[in-house]
Amino acid sequence: MIKQNGRTIHLMGKEVSYVMVINNDGDLINFHMGKKIADRDYASMKEQWAEGCGMMSNTIALDVYPQEYPSYGLSDLRNPAYQIVNKFGHPNAKLTVRDIIIHENEVVKVKDMPSLYKGDCKADTLEVVLYDEAIEFEAHLYYTVFENYNVIARHAVLINKADEDIELSSAYSMSLDFPRADYDMVHFAGAWLRERDMIRTPLQLGAKVEACNARGASGHQINPFAMICSRDADENNGEVFGLSLVYSGNHSTVATVDQFGFLRVQQGINPLSFRWILKKDEEFCTPQSIICYSDKGFGKMSRDMHDVVRNNIMTSAFTHKERPILINNWEGTYFDFNEKKLLAIAKKAQKVGIELFVLDDGWFGQRNDDHRGLGDWFVNKKKLPSGIDGLAEKVNKLDMKFGLWFEPEMVNPDSDLYRAHPDWAVKIPERTPVEIRQQLVLDLTKPEVRDYIVKAVSDILSTANIEYVKWDMNRQITDMPCLGYNHKYTLGFYDIMHRIVTAFPNILFEGCSSGGGRYDLGVLAYMPQFWASDNSDAGCRFKIQYTTSMCYPIYSIGSHVTAVPNHQCGRTTRLKTRGDVAYMGAFGYELDITKCTDNEIEEIKAQVEFEKKVRSLMCEGDFYRLVNPYESNYCSWETVSKDKKKVFLFAGKSMAVAYDKNPKIKLQGLCPDKLYKNTATGEVYGGDLLMNRGIDVGFKGDDFATQVILFEEA
Ligand code: GLA
Repeated sequence: MIKQNGRTIHLMGKEVSYVMVINNDGDLINFHMGKKIADRDYASMKEQWAEGCGMMSNTIALDVYPQEYPSYGLSDLRNPAYQIVNKFGHPNAKLTVRDIIIHENEVVKVKDMPSLYKGDCKADTLEVVLYDEAIEFEAHLYYTVFENYNVIARHAVLINKADEDIELSSAYSMSLDFPRADYDMVHFAGAWLRERDMIRTPLQLGAKVEACNARGASGHQINPFAMICSRDADENNGEVFGLSLVYSGNHSTVATVDQFGFLRVQQGINPLSFRWILKKDEEFCTPQSIICYSDKGFGKMSRDMHDVVRNNIMTSAFTHKERPILINNWEGTYFDFNEKKLLAIAKKAQKVGIELFVLDDGWFGQRNDDHRGLGDWFVNKKKLPSGIDGLAEKVNKLDMKFGLWFEPEMVNPDSDLYRAHPDWAVKIPERTPVEIRQQLVLDLTKPEVRDYIVKAVSDILSTANIEYVKWDMNRQITDMPCLGYNHKYTLGFYDIMHRIVTAFPNILFEGCSSGGGRYDLGVLAYMPQFWASDNSDAGCRFKIQYTTSMCYPIYSIGSHVTAVPNHQCGRTTRLKTRGDVAYMGAFGYELDITKCTDNEIEEIKAQVEFEKKVRSLMCEGDFYRLVNPYESNYCSWETVSKDKKKVFLFAGKSMAVAYDKNPKIKLQGLCPDKLYKNTATGEVYGGDLLMNRGIDVGFKGDDFATQVILFEEA
């Protein structure tokens, strides 16, 4: 709901308030974002924050005001929400409110980029029009609030009204000023095979914490999700502001604490390497930033975020459907396969109940290793004499679905595509482009390149019965030929995604970027799942999956059981451990099942059966993180069905210790009056007991022993 009360504008979500006031000068001031407050006229309240800063004369008054979209260089000298060189060549602007428009029961979509839509509940959008008359520059700020969620989604559209060009050198999606700074910032940093480590930094007077990436895609290194939280915040306590950018390119989340101890938080496109020229009447639209508020810790924020994303971001028809259990041949065969070998894997997999066979890299062109072939999207008949259609048919005859890997945004210099179109790769004409994994990036800003990709992929998808696609993107983007290029590339990527997923609505798409290098809400808008990491070691996955769940719905997390010793870190864990960890997510196998022993096959069969019982919980349930692997030797999480009748519990320990005290895991989110039966042992517990006393899950084994329990209402 959005209400305007004189000069007060109040957005109200389920338990959240976002209040702005317009001051006497027409500046848009943030009054409150946080727990819901009454709907009153707050514009007449004394602005104590300004009074407290007695040294400041009112000529630089905005330096002490909490603003909504601050400018730099006039009366505010802090980090601005945007920077321009105006029509006179000066690097400043001053935007004041010109109009307020309330779009009742409407979500204003972000142009050419994925953004929230009106899914499962009423949503209203506020549009504030700001204007700088002196330089003829306009900004439209959009705020969407959802009736059932504690979410405010923001984006901005900047328009040049002058005859002369205006140059934008930064344009954040949101800027939010807090009248205090006793918060921490949490961001998710990593690298290939070590995605999304949770890093918590106390915000300090005068300091700036920036979590940003300028590597072409949202990246392994820093995820475009961060949190601002009170110093005491943990899973169940404290205030948390989750900030998630619906964007797959270079991004930045920055928190600065000024001289008076006020906090400014901004999120949007990374200003590094950004520049955009606006001609008369041209506009620049930022991506959307979703701010999710919780007054009860990270857990509540995550559950709200998961629901918003599942119901208002993800567009795939598979979002709310149970996904097929897959087997992918990558770690099983790498490039060394032929039709016979693949069919042997598929056949054995089908026997244990696996439902989808996925053929990974190596099926096209001269792709016998990762030095050549990318871009040549026609089947390698030497390996697959009956083609992709023939192979799909044979897999289908086994009563399995068939899926295929692509990496359409890339090209190897050693490929027919590159030989025919060397100018299609991203490069600077005077330089030899940098190769990463022997490949170059195709220039998605060129319409002919996008058309080629759409056609090449569509031709394959429409000639064979392909029901799943793994869309990979395996390198960072170097050699960008101009400032602002990365945004243009990202728009090109969205254009391709939009065209392909709308043309093939019955295909399940899974994103991948050398593992989790482009795991963001922009991608999830098109593809409901993402390969979380090329690191498939169950022990490492304790942390990777735990932190990924902070923002992203757990069923979006691609997680596979792979062979041991693990190919990435060499560790040997039990098959049980690998399965138990992989249940949390879109479950599958990635090994040569023909090499498994009879005992392993029996165990896999049981895992597949168990997955079929629990996957609806992963798809639609409420997720609780119970024990944090960063803070203890243990790790535990739980999913509860919305009706609270079914509960999936996972617990794992890292290192074996003498006198292991087997911690009592306290469950959450159950109905205290219900009785819950452990479906494996038949033991019955009260919901109150499970939540308040907790239970001993009974780890069996040493390092990385795990346990899972499915409870059902007794
Ligand atoms: C990337 C992916 C892997 C696999 C390979 C194939 O590394 O993350 O899962 O698909 O590419 O080359």
